[in-house]
Amino acid sequence: MERSNFSMRLLLLILLVSLARSADSSSSHEMFLQCFSSHIQHSKSYSEVILTKNSSAYSSVLQSSIRNFRFLNTSTLKPQFIITPFNEFEIQAAIVCAKKYDMQIRVRSGGHDYEGLSFLSYQEFVLVDLAELSSISVDIENETAWIGAGASIGELYYRIAEKSKVHGFPAGTCPTVGVGGHFSGGGFGTIFRKYGLAADNLIDARIVDANGRILDRESMGEDLFWAIRGGGAASFGVVFSWKVRLVSVPPTVTVFNIGKTLQQGASNLLHKWQNIGDKLHEDLFLHATIAVATSSPNGNKTIQVSFVSLFLGRAEELLPMMQDSFPELGLMRENCSEMSWIQSVLYFGGFSPSDSLDVLLSRTAQFKGFFKGKSDYVKEPISETGLEGLYKRLLEEETSMLILTPYGGRMSEISDSETPFPHRSGNIFEIQYIITWDVEEETEKNLKWMRKLYAYMAPYVSNSPRAAYLNYRDLDLGRNNYGNTSFAKASVWGLKYFKNNFKRLARVKTATDPSNFFRNEQSIPVLQRKRNLK
Ligand SMILES: Cc1cc2nc3c(=O)[nH]c(=O)nc-3n(C[C@H](O)[C@H](O)[C@H](O)COP(=O)(O)OP(=O)(O)OC[C@H]3O[C@@H](n4cnc5c(N)ncnc54)[C@H](O)[C@@H]3O)c2cc1C
Ligand SMILES: *[C@@H]1O[C@H](CO)[C@@H](O)[C@H](O)[C@H]1NC(C)=O
Ligand SMILES: *[C@@H]1O[C@H](CO)[C@@H](O)[C@H](O)[C@H]1NC(C)=O
Ligand SMILES: *[C@@H]1O[C@H](CO)[C@@H](O)[C@H](O)[C@H]1NC(C)=O
Ligand SMILES: *[C@@H]1O[C@H](CO)[C@@H](O)[C@H](O)[C@H]1NC(C)=O
Ligand SMILES: *[C@@H]1O[C@H](CO)[C@@H](O)[C@H](O)[C@H]1NC(C)=O
Ligand SMILES: *[C@@H]1O[C@H](CO)[C@@H](O)[C@H](O)[C@H]1NC(C)=O
Repeated sequence: MERSNFSMRLLLLILLVSLARSADSSSSHEMFLQCFSSHIQHSKSYSEVILTKNSSAYSSVLQSSIRNFRFLNTSTLKPQFIITPFNEFEIQAAIVCAKKYDMQIRVRSGGHDYEGLSFLSYQEFVLVDLAELSSISVDIENETAWIGAGASIGELYYRIAEKSKVHGFPAGTCPTVGVGGHFSGGGFGTIFRKYGLAADNLIDARIVDANGRILDRESMGEDLFWAIRGGGAASFGVVFSWKVRLVSVPPTVTVFNIGKTLQQGASNLLHKWQNIGDKLHEDLFLHATIAVATSSPNGNKTIQVSFVSLFLGRAEELLPMMQDSFPELGLMRENCSEMSWIQSVLYFGGFSPSDSLDVLLSRTAQFKGFFKGKSDYVKEPISETGLEGLYKRLLEEETSMLILTPYGGRMSEISDSETPFPHRSGNIFEIQYIITWDVEEETEKNLKWMRKLYAYMAPYVSNSPRAAYLNYRDLDLGRNNYGNTSFAKASVWGLKYFKNNFKRLARVKTATDPSNFFRNEQSIPVLQRKRNLK
């Protein structure tokens, strides 16, 4: 019965495939559906796995993890289908059928992409939403974990803490970020000066490639495994799960947050910080945020610099270290809070350390609104004049902010080519620029302001190339022409994200996806075959 049903479907499929060439787009959609249904194992009901534009759940699923309202407007192309796989075979079916019927796919894990590339496309596409692939199994004995590519980093931290108070993982601070995009683009947070990036701590992965093959580290080979640890997996396949190495954290850590306005000497402190932030002990993470604040008592706008820290140890060890390296900050015991590492995850995630850990399981982002971000790397301290011009510009836009993240420590020990993420030794800190707003009418104005600020900063940051962080994706840096861009053209942005690793990424791309099936506005290009080789 099952078998004859199957061969009927197969027959139908062959018939449909033979008709495909002359098909218009609506019948190619039909054929995609036929193809997909014939491939998937009917363990779940079909209607749960694939949604069409007519499905009642379509809009809510599409919008479920869109974080940036810039990408919610009605003029953006919507996916023809949304596939929510429950297993690897459903991902495989989506790839095989999309390839066959010339549809693009977009893959979404946590949906935090700064330019919305996980759920937007310029061509007809199918959205593969990994939300259901979020199982996490933590193995404390071996200090490893397998993580479904649709899980969030908050869920990962929660599952580790459930089993151990002295294990953690070096990834980002915002709990709703997905491991799919985050790990494959780098991923840093409060303990990366000790342990490196999330990508540096990946030890295995399962991925479905452009031919629909399901591969692990051994079968994909070291080149592809290298590429997906910082090169962005979206150019190479769909990651199904990651295996990570857990790291040790002490039972008690210490946090503090000291804010100073310009009137209180913030600029001198920032100057000092630029000279020591990357040289502090690797157990001590001290980042600085620069934002607009209201100064009391007159209510004038001013700039406030906040120095926010996580120390992997107790306050009594931290105080002498700070006294030694940064006495100007005037850190006192009363400014320090001791807590467990998982409570510090809450603290840096914007919660109170006394909140229930359950908030880490929530997929609802704390920030929803319009935003634009950009990044820079800094190799020499920014001069006083440079900072003054920066403050002046920030004061024009009250909802703007800079986050300065110190590098050094473990980050300087890992070579530039160990993974595709090249921003290692020689960088003293990274800048993230952010501006947020609430209404669409302000979009153009704010994008323009951000571009001007970025132009202003050019003399003070890295150059040739002016480096950028892939996970703070920025299409202002350049974009592929329908994914069909030469290596030379793509190098404009490719060298910023990957420096000398860009060429190797293109070689891996050419070897694993020569037909450029996995493409987007900033996907790794296929190297053109020399004409005379043909
Ligand atoms: C509020 C906020 C806070 C952040 N905080 C940090 C931070 O502390 N540290 C940091 O390093 N970064 C941070 N980021 C940036 C973040 O790391 C990137 O946006 C990251 O790419 C998000 O991953 P995602 O899975 O949520 O995004 P998605 O939008 O789902 O995916 C991003 C990209 O990866 C691709 N992709 C996703 N899953 C897969 C998969 N399984 N296989 C193949 N390709 C896939 C997508 O197609 C897309 O191209 C933050 C971003 C936001 C919005
Ligand atoms: C969606 O509904 C419209 C109008 O009811 C119908 O014409 C169309 O065929 C439907 N599309 C799909 C994919 O079911
Ligand atoms: C809608 O979104 C698209 C894609 O991000 C963007 O290019 C366009 O400018 C937006 N439209 C408006 C009116 O903001
Ligand atoms: C730890 O790894 C070993 C070797 O791979 C395996 O046999 C063992 O079952 C693992 N431990 C747990 C608790 O899974
Ligand atoms: C740090 O502690 C001192 C002494 O209690 C206090 O006066 C000061 O306001 C604290 N600073 C911050 C930023 O909490
Ligand atoms: C602050 O506000 C007061 C009163 O509104 C004004 O006189 C003063 O010039 C302002 N100071 C600065 C530094 O802008
Ligand atoms: C892609 O670029 C190549 C080389 O420039 C060109 O021959 C080809 O027609 C392009 N394909 C598309 C789909 O634009």
